[in-house]
Amino acid sequence: MKVGILGTGMVGNAIGTKLVETGHQTMMGSRTAGSEAGREWKKSTGGKGQIGTFTDAAAFGEIIFDCTNGANSIAALRQAGAQNLRGKILVQVSNPLDFSKGMPPSLTVCNTDSLGEQIQREFPEARVVKALNTMNCRVMVEPSLVPGDHNLFLCGNDAAAKAEVTKHLGAWFGWKPGNVIDLGDITGSRGTEMFLPLWLRLFGMFGDATFNIQVVRGG
Ligand SMILES: NC(=O)c1ccc[n+]([C@@H]2O[C@H](COP(=O)([O-])OP(=O)(O)OC[C@H]3O[C@@H](n4cnc5c(N)ncnc54)[C@H](OP(=O)(O)O)[C@@H]3O)[C@@H](O)[C@H]2O)c1
Repeated sequence: MKVGILGTGMVGNAIGTKLVETGHQTMMGSRTAGSEAGREWKKSTGGKGQIGTFTDAAAFGEIIFDCTNGANSIAALRQAGAQNLRGKILVQVSNPLDFSKGMPPSLTVCNTDSLGEQIQREFPEARVVKALNTMNCRVMVEPSLVPGDHNLFLCGNDAAAKAEVTKHLGAWFGWKPGNVIDLGDITGSRGTEMFLPLWLRLFGMFGDATFNIQVVRGG
């Protein structure tokens, strides 16, 4: 499958590398063609990964991962182009973290809205599935790094898109379908994005990002 990755940071790298390793044609997008981070990634894949602009990667992908800086995701997606997102699944991984006032970051949007919703509103013809944003990127692509069962949340307005993403996350990264929790429509993004302050606090306490949460139900 042809996959477009928007974002050259550690998340784009982790997802892009895993996809190249599992035999997918993968293009990583940046604001500029041939960015240094993009070139480094391409080199790390032995030249198998392709690079381009956000527009190139979105046009290339049959499915697209948004791994951009959350405070600038809408700008990045505008550069990617609504026409290149139309009808495609957009796995929306970025979080609306605002580092402008230092640490810890706050959220650029919360409570009654979310980045996932803002993106679905801005690109109504994209099939936005918010997913993977509540864990470190190493855990995203290799859940067995954390022992036992633990959960991945996803949400979105398109049930078929969510089913397809669940299938791909299993086949590509090893997520058991039983550990994927569907939170319903895209407004579910509010909760997963507002989990970030707790995630960051846990990271600070543990001094290590290799953890995840497991929802345990009674009754
Ligand atoms: N780190 C994790 O493990 C983790 C886990 C869960 C979720 N997340 C979320 O995933 C997202 C990506 O995180 P990251 O650390 O990999 O990367 P990042 O440093 O947050 O973002 C890098 C990407 O954002 C683009 N970007 C930066 N400023 C921009 C602007 N003004 N306009 C348009 N694009 C801009 C960069 O473009 P260029 O390539 O042109 O520089 C680059 O491709 C974030 O939202 C983060 O909160 C991270």
